Amino acid sequence: MGECERYLKSAVEVVREAGELLKRHFSETGEVFFKGEVDLVTRSDKASQDLIYGRLSKIYPDHDFLGEEGLTELSGSDFRWVFDPLDGTTNFAHRLPVFSISLALEHRRRLVCGVVFNPISGELFTAERGAGAFLNDRRIAVSTIDDLDKSLLATGFPYDIRTTKTNITNHNRFLVRAQAVRRCGSAALDLCFVACGRFDGFWEEKLNPWDTAAGAVIVEEAGGRVTDFEENPVDIYHPEVVASNGFIHRAMLEVLKLKS
Ligand code: IPD
Ligand code: CA
Ligand code: CA
Repeated sequence: MGECERYLKSAVEVVREAGELLKRHFSETGEVFFKGEVDLVTRSDKASQDLIYGRLSKIYPDHDFLGEEGLTELSGSDFRWVFDPLDGTTNFAHRLPVFSISLALEHRRRLVCGVVFNPISGELFTAERGAGAFLNDRRIAVSTIDDLDKSLLATGFPYDIRTTKTNITNHNRFLVRAQAVRRCGSAALDLCFVACGRFDGFWEEKLNPWDTAAGAVIVEEAGGRVTDFEENPVDIYHPEVVASNGFIHRAMLEVLKLKS
């Protein structure tokens, strides 16, 4: 078994276990805390993070960890696990079964594998650098739509939208250029839906590394493109992300370049 294969196997095992936990919590009435005016955090976000960190840090005690709920264990290791223990917390808190766990591994700042799991639908997206992308063990590929007018796009909005109005202009522009625009509420799943051809493109303006890391490697391994708005290669520490099947990438970037 190759090194990467071993890491991917650990990642799959741990997201499945965290998925069971989230599924249990999903059917119970949870307590919801607020991080900001509309930024929710449930006890499930924290429990899922504790489980993932607990398992992985035991197997890989020398690795670094970056998790959304205040986990920054960065000691300069070549390996860094970057994860969102619950992506789609607003959906989760409102009992909408569209959320995921997103877990990726970087080696010297290069994404080497990623896993995204929706425990309610049972869909598990995986990718290992150089070995393709899979949905429940079936190889996936991006769509072949090459016309923005015919494309189905996805986006998302940050929690501070009330004060920043972030992405409203771009959203409105794409709304009249694409066939339709969706907002599902889990950036990690949006990226995976690009990877398997359900969406032709996705963009968002204020994402964090844990939102993007796993989905980015999954899109690339499915044959798609991931860049920032200036067409620089994907950098998960940069907030702007455009992911597409490749064919409509330039057209998406043109829309994002328009000045208000
Ligand atoms: C959010 C989701 C959402 C995106 C937001 C993220 P969270 O993550 O990915 O789709 O639009 O920007 O913050 O808070 O549910 O983990
Ligand atoms: Ca997130
Ligand atoms: Ca989260």
